[in-house]
Amino acid sequence: MSTFKIAHPMSADHFDNGFYGQDILSVSQFDRSNLDYIFTVADEMRILVERFGSADLLHGKILANLFYEPSTRTSSSFMAAMQRLGGQVIPINGVQYSSVSKGESLPDTVRTLECYSDIIVIRHPEMGAAATAARYASKPVINAGDGPGEHPTQALLDLFTIQEALHQVNGLKVAMVGDLKYGRTVHSLTKLLLNYEVSFDFVSPDFLRMPEDVLEQVRKSGHAFRETENVHEVIGNADVLYVTRVQKERFTDLAVYDRVKDFYVVDETLMKAAKEKMIVMHPLPRVNEISYAIDDDPRAAYFRQMRNGMYVRMALLAAVLGKA
Ligand code: NCD
Repeated sequence: MSTFKIAHPMSADHFDNGFYGQDILSVSQFDRSNLDYIFTVADEMRILVERFGSADLLHGKILANLFYEPSTRTSSSFMAAMQRLGGQVIPINGVQYSSVSKGESLPDTVRTLECYSDIIVIRHPEMGAAATAARYASKPVINAGDGPGEHPTQALLDLFTIQEALHQVNGLKVAMVGDLKYGRTVHSLTKLLLNYEVSFDFVSPDFLRMPEDVLEQVRKSGHAFRETENVHEVIGNADVLYVTRVQKERFTDLAVYDRVKDFYVVDETLMKAAKEKMIVMHPLPRVNEISYAIDDDPRAAYFRQMRNGMYVRMALLAAVLGKA
């Protein structure tokens, strides 16, 4: 993975920030020091956007935004991030209109797009697809979700939002609720949080439990966790309630989906049992998991998450292109 991807040697106008020319495929690439660096830059990006709207840091750079799965937030925040930094975007949001529908392979599509761009963002339904793309590409590749695998940039914006809301991460009790089996955001966020002293409650129907490989990493790093089906057991203690959508598109049997889809609904009654300073998070889109009635509760952090996504992605793009 850590092959240096940029053809030109390091020059005075490129910063060696540890991300320059690198693929971003997994949260395992992050530690406390490079997280602090990305979040400091993301804070600067927020100020930049609030004061000036845009800058020309990435002027002349082109991002290929290649989405094989539906997306609203991830796709448009990467596009906005690139454009607010003065760069441009090749948007491929409907692969059905590209040569993919003629049967073109992922390696050939990636080899094509890198001729026209400086960096590739990819979302794909298969686990490992971003790593495959990165193997074939000589330009940096950012994983924007590989099936039920990982979604590292979402985990970064989630962690950034937790820090912003609660000011520190050590000592937090994090409850993750819903589809922990197929939800790639909870896989990435759990692994990323292992950099901190937190404890976990994994709340799901038995069929949708957190995968064993993720649990194994939690165990190995010595973090406390508990698994339960009952959200009422954890609500009173949680500092972060991270709610997920049941990932309908990953089910082969829709009858099973129908049985689990409305297992948890965060509503005003549940919120009454929660701490006053708890935050409710959701990567969005929500289906029925969070009642609209709590959108105005100050503890609802999901709209802040999506706003922060752009700042964090601006920071990452600038870092990988050597301009942060
Ligand atoms: C998530 C995803 O695509 O994994 N969405 C997102 O990127 N914000 C969560 C989901 O689709 O449920």
